[in-house]
Amino acid sequence: MKQVMLLFRCNHRTIVFLALSVCFIARASAQEILIPVETKTNALVLKVSPTKDVNILYLGEKLSHSEEYNNISGAYRQTADYSNVLASAYTSAGSRNLAEPAIAVVHADGNTSLDLRYSSHKTERVDNNSSLTSVVLKDSLYPFWVTLYYKTYVKEDIVEQWCVIRHKEKGQVTLSKFASANLQLKAGSYWLRQYHGDWAREMQPEETLLTHGIKTLDSKLGTRANLFQPALFMVSLDKPATEDEGTVLFGSLSWTGNFRIDLEVDYQDNLRLLAGMNNFASTYFLKSGEEFTTPAFLYTLSHQGKGKASRNLHDWARNYRLVDGKGTRLTLLNNWEATYFNFNEEKLAALLKDTKKLGVDLFLLDDGWFANKYPRNDDHAGLGDWEENRQKLPNGISYLVKEATANDVKFGIWIEPEMVNPKSELYEKHPDWIIRQPGREEHYFRNQLVLDLSNPKVQDFVFGVVDGLLEKNPTLAYIKWDCNAVIYNAYSAHLKNQTHLYIEYVRGLYKVLERIRGKYPTVPMMLCSGGGGRTDYAALQYFTEYWPSDNTDPLERIFIQWEYSYFFPAIASSNHVTDWGRQSIKYRTDVAMMGKLGFDIVVSKLKPEELAYCQGAVKQYDSVKAVIWQGDQYRLTDPRQNSVASVLYLDKDKANGVLFNYLVSGRFAAGSTLPIRLKGLAPEKSYRLREVNLYPGTTSSILSDKTYTGEYLMTVGFNPDVRSGRNSVVIKLTQANR
Ligand code: DGJ
Repeated sequence: MKQVMLLFRCNHRTIVFLALSVCFIARASAQEILIPVETKTNALVLKVSPTKDVNILYLGEKLSHSEEYNNISGAYRQTADYSNVLASAYTSAGSRNLAEPAIAVVHADGNTSLDLRYSSHKTERVDNNSSLTSVVLKDSLYPFWVTLYYKTYVKEDIVEQWCVIRHKEKGQVTLSKFASANLQLKAGSYWLRQYHGDWAREMQPEETLLTHGIKTLDSKLGTRANLFQPALFMVSLDKPATEDEGTVLFGSLSWTGNFRIDLEVDYQDNLRLLAGMNNFASTYFLKSGEEFTTPAFLYTLSHQGKGKASRNLHDWARNYRLVDGKGTRLTLLNNWEATYFNFNEEKLAALLKDTKKLGVDLFLLDDGWFANKYPRNDDHAGLGDWEENRQKLPNGISYLVKEATANDVKFGIWIEPEMVNPKSELYEKHPDWIIRQPGREEHYFRNQLVLDLSNPKVQDFVFGVVDGLLEKNPTLAYIKWDCNAVIYNAYSAHLKNQTHLYIEYVRGLYKVLERIRGKYPTVPMMLCSGGGGRTDYAALQYFTEYWPSDNTDPLERIFIQWEYSYFFPAIASSNHVTDWGRQSIKYRTDVAMMGKLGFDIVVSKLKPEELAYCQGAVKQYDSVKAVIWQGDQYRLTDPRQNSVASVLYLDKDKANGVLFNYLVSGRFAAGSTLPIRLKGLAPEKSYRLREVNLYPGTTSSILSDKTYTGEYLMTVGFNPDVRSGRNSVVIKLTQANR
């Protein structure tokens, strides 16, 4: 079939990414339309057939000559596509489709068929780096529409994809599946890297060859949705990508609740990827005229391995997503592991002094400060009763905030406002605010239940917890927002349609967070969920950072942080020095420095040289934190493959860097026997490398007066001399010849 295509290039002389982001390809004489969605490196090209089916023609590296997209379909000699919609851009159930659908509905009249056809499309420029392509699809029989949205972030090579579903039928339409994104990739083989976990063992990776059939990654936990599995994954094409080689797609669903990601290798050997909210127990009844907006699926495609993909995501997150992504963060001392629930004003006064002594910015008061009728002295009681416990804190939080100011540090506080203990006044007063099945025995996760955030009254209550604290204490400088329970016995006393609960819960949560950010746009907030139970880019638009895991054993953390770092930038990773693990305070502190540094230790119990070490490290951190937070991250040696883990952070000018190296094996002769090749440096620049964070009384085996060219460091490498006795080595890199 002859395909003719007209191509309009907009503003040829503007820089390439701009030009390509706003260009579109118009209607062709053979009534075929190509719709390319392009970023700096990649193109997703949709093709509208003469029968108005919208299929994915191509997802891969962008071509310089857009008209050549037209040749692509002829390049494949796969078996027949019997349905003509195997590559659908949004696969609908109930008509010709034979594969896993993106959408399945029951129309108002009970009919279950859907056949979405092209109606129109447009590409609008959002700003210099971003454009929004929308494609309107309409059912050929029913007044039922789906608009597909593709938002590009050109420089970062990121696409966000979601859709809006609406209809004008007489009565409500039942949505039984409603994915955000439907992609198709073509390669010889597909390698999935996925994650699983549990409390204190988050982000355990597994990498497998995808075989024919469907592999589903999902969560049905409601809240704390990522406890067993986050909506984060990578798919490498043809072979598992390494840090610097191979084509790999990093995907993530921006949704703080149940998700479902289907990866289907179909009979033609294509990979069909469907990602969205989980339809499990979530049939949605859509009224006529109502819009159902799905969350965004976020992806980046790298042809230079996992390192590049992760740096794309880091840049995007800092530029567009995190609260104050380009800003700074507060170092802190947390009292959770230092005191647990056992504290009073006197103890806290001493900790405020320790905060100053340590040299960090803020003291963070954790769980246990509230509730009177059922005091919060352990995790069985008090959750929900957010007034200060009079025995522990007779003068209230305001007094502590003032005391902090008097000690020249800031004050932050822990809350878990979505939850309730059965032993609480809140439970007694508002049983209808709680998610639980009438007539069934309650089942608890950490002795608590979840409040019903689909209810606007509960939303007001949760907003009030934060608002009350900040109204009373305008200088309160930090909030740690915890979420420890999953949803059992899902039932809302507020909702008419029980199958809307999982979705309305998350929407309610976002409404609260919107209100908080509307009133308090900049107050730093940590997204915590008993560890990494919530790690998604929808929640992170309201937070400055997240808590990767309660497991702070530095050896474990090297592995956990390593995997998280593929998806989230270091500035968002709250890393605390605690007493977990057997490593020295130096090792623990060095590992925590690879993100946003905090401490959760009893400072008064540190030996003088340990305290001196920590104080020095905090000062050193001040001098390198800008590079760690805003620079490019290069993973140099993988702890899963080597006895040394090595990570480099380099500023965007390639002038300053910091290199962290750790021994991760206790085996004989383990260590950096070979030099470690650095990455990302300017070959012609000269660099000086100096070991920092030396433990008091020790000297470095690294000569700091030598300089090396970037070329040398990237070709031959540098040996940080990691070995038993030198199991944590931090090297500062500075440009020498300026
Ligand atoms: C779980 C968090 O992950 C911990 O850091 C701590 O805040 C506890 N909750 C408090 O209950």
